[in-house]
Amino acid sequence: MLMIRDLTKKYGRFVAVNHINMHVGKGEIFGFVGPNGAGKTTTMRICCGLLKATSGQVMIDGTDAFRARQAVKRKIGYVPDFFGVYDNLKVLEYMRFFGSMYDIPSAQVTEIARGLLKLVNLDEWEELLVDRLSRGMKQRLCMARALIHNPQLLILDEPNSGLDPRARFEMKEIIKNLSSMGKTIVISSHILPELAEMCTSIGVMDRGKMIVSGKVDDIMKQSQFTQPIRIRLSSGASEAKEQAVRLIREDPHTEKVTFTEEELFVTFCGGDDEAARLLRQLIQKAIPVAGFYREKGDLESLFMKIISTSARQATRQKGKGDR
Ligand SMILES: Nc1ncnc2c1ncn2[C@@H]1O[C@H](COP(=O)(O)OP(=O)(O)OP(=O)(O)O)[C@@H](O)[C@H]1O
Ligand SMILES: [Mg+2]
Repeated sequence: MLMIRDLTKKYGRFVAVNHINMHVGKGEIFGFVGPNGAGKTTTMRICCGLLKATSGQVMIDGTDAFRARQAVKRKIGYVPDFFGVYDNLKVLEYMRFFGSMYDIPSAQVTEIARGLLKLVNLDEWEELLVDRLSRGMKQRLCMARALIHNPQLLILDEPNSGLDPRARFEMKEIIKNLSSMGKTIVISSHILPELAEMCTSIGVMDRGKMIVSGKVDDIMKQSQFTQPIRIRLSSGASEAKEQAVRLIREDPHTEKVTFTEEELFVTFCGGDDEAARLLRQLIQKAIPVAGFYREKGDLESLFMKIISTSARQATRQKGKGDR
């Protein structure tokens, strides 16, 4: 549905988006994450045709976004990261206004607008002035507005920011609902656990570069390589514990071993086969293993790890450059 190839955006000499590639399949929910200034909004605005790229290509549902701007605009619904001011416009009028911008016949636009207001739970507020809405309600109205021309791809820039927990929950339900209606969704957010819960794929950006992107399952599988193993030995086996620690430290996939009275924590960079081999070795040496558990990484700590690794690499490169 969305394909970005070698996309770059420069502001003067500053490179805000640096040769990024990403792919979002039909029906996916793609979580776009990265620290402030990473380039997420810039990328999203380029996809929507609101900003001109310096170089690269964006394809939306097979159409070149830079060549067929109008056709592409009809395929995209965009929720920006800030909400403009609309003095003296009521909720339903606001929706009708945006409907008319997409040439929706006026006979249909009210019905479509009301249907969408219902979808985002604003149907009771259609006569309220837009500027009187709470922040959460404005975000939902923005979402309804982005859907007015029935786009297949929704680009949501931090739709959850500044919302209280209940409003966030409602927004998440709306997004899941839209996904079940077959929409493809690209969503940026700093609220990682929430993204992790709904996304089918993710892209992690940092300082203009795409560090990782792909299906959550595939990235999780990779992450398992650095997830720890917890090993519990049967009680009163202190000698065996020392022997176990020695054995584990000798394994080339072991990065670090720490232990408490009950458990050993092994930072292990091997895959499942290597972990199984380690367990076999422990048992062959008659170490009384009572529990052996490979922790599955959670997406939030994966994001943090990816971003901190990329920050370390950037510092190292900068250090080299300065010399
Ligand atoms: N018009 C502009 N002129 C110069 N630099 C800009 C301009 N717009 C954005 N930038 C810079 O581009 C970089 C990327 O900004 P962008 O808004 O895309 O980041 P972001 O990932 O969306 O961050 P956030 O999480 O804070 O929303 C930032 O360093 C920003 O200062
Ligand atoms: Mg942004």
